[in-house]
Amino acid sequence: MTDMILTNAQIVLDDEVIRGTVTLRGGRIAGIDPGGTAARGEVDLDGDMLLPGLIELHTDNLERHLEPRPNVDWPHAAAILAHDGELASTGITTVFDALRVGSIHTGKGRYEKYARTVANEVFALRAQGALRINHYVHLRAEICSETLAEEMAEFGPDDRVGIVSLMDHTPGQRQFRDIAKLKQYVAKKRSMTDDEFDDHVAHLKGLQADNGDRHEAEAVAHARRYGAVLASHDDTTADHVAVSASHGMRLAEFPTTREAAEACHANGIQVMMGAPNLIRGGSHSGNVAAHELAEAGLLDIVSSDYVPSALMSSAFLLADLWDDVPRAIATVTANPARATGLTDRGRIAPGLHADLVRVGRIEGTPVVRGVWCHGRQVG
Ligand SMILES: [Fe+2]
Repeated sequence: MTDMILTNAQIVLDDEVIRGTVTLRGGRIAGIDPGGTAARGEVDLDGDMLLPGLIELHTDNLERHLEPRPNVDWPHAAAILAHDGELASTGITTVFDALRVGSIHTGKGRYEKYARTVANEVFALRAQGALRINHYVHLRAEICSETLAEEMAEFGPDDRVGIVSLMDHTPGQRQFRDIAKLKQYVAKKRSMTDDEFDDHVAHLKGLQADNGDRHEAEAVAHARRYGAVLASHDDTTADHVAVSASHGMRLAEFPTTREAAEACHANGIQVMMGAPNLIRGGSHSGNVAAHELAEAGLLDIVSSDYVPSALMSSAFLLADLWDDVPRAIATVTANPARATGLTDRGRIAPGLHADLVRVGRIEGTPVVRGVWCHGRQVG
């Protein structure tokens, strides 16, 4: 791979931002030097910031491209390529594509199986060199479902499953403690009458009673078999966090209360919150505000959740809030890398992957002006 020199950059390192030059060689970062360079052919970043490529642990964005309108099944290869390109354009160079496992074939709120097929399609495009950025799989294991164990059995250690999150979306708890908020969300999305919604809630509660404990144990066992990191999802109480810690979890997705976030830190669990929550100033399902956790020092990782560009925006929002650029950038780079055991990326340091983003700011808004993944320009 061709050498490249990026000069006149504000380089965001672990604990400081320095003006200087980064040299890339063979897809890796070869050197970091304060000041300019006498070499020819360098790329002048004109004083823009140079960040590590962003690492996204939980995005629904692929699902949005696969189903751009309710019940519209878009051709999958086109959807995957559009998703990949969109992420590259926002500075994301490693993504864990969130795919749900555990379906419901009965009742009004049905969910069909799709994760295995889509994972195969992503891997096929990857093998053909069609993808711009690095893709891993994040299996979202829906405990309150009918088919979790069968669907998870179809994945194995070679399937790049980096994260398994245990989700329990049974109404009346966790993300949907407030049933009125759930009704607003589900009834609108699936156009249910009041009676249909009540039946739906009763059906889900029945599934949890029948399958919850067994599914939880099986999901933990499958995650170990894949070599994946286990994550909790929507932990609400200190008791939930204690159960997560007992499974060896080190990553918590979207704890819904400050109490849960504090319990996570007491148990050495990194807290991840959604960028849209941070940017909108609160949660759409009525849970704790991400900025409250950020101000309390309880926010470690940000995920773009359902808006890819929100990852970069929220990193700069945190940089302003904390008045600390390296600490804020770490929430979307070094911290998610550490949480998932990716020791070869997430920081600008010699020997790591040359996954880099050039960013300027126009009236506070970050503007992505260049993206390199493993030294190749992809955005
Ligand atoms: Fe959730």
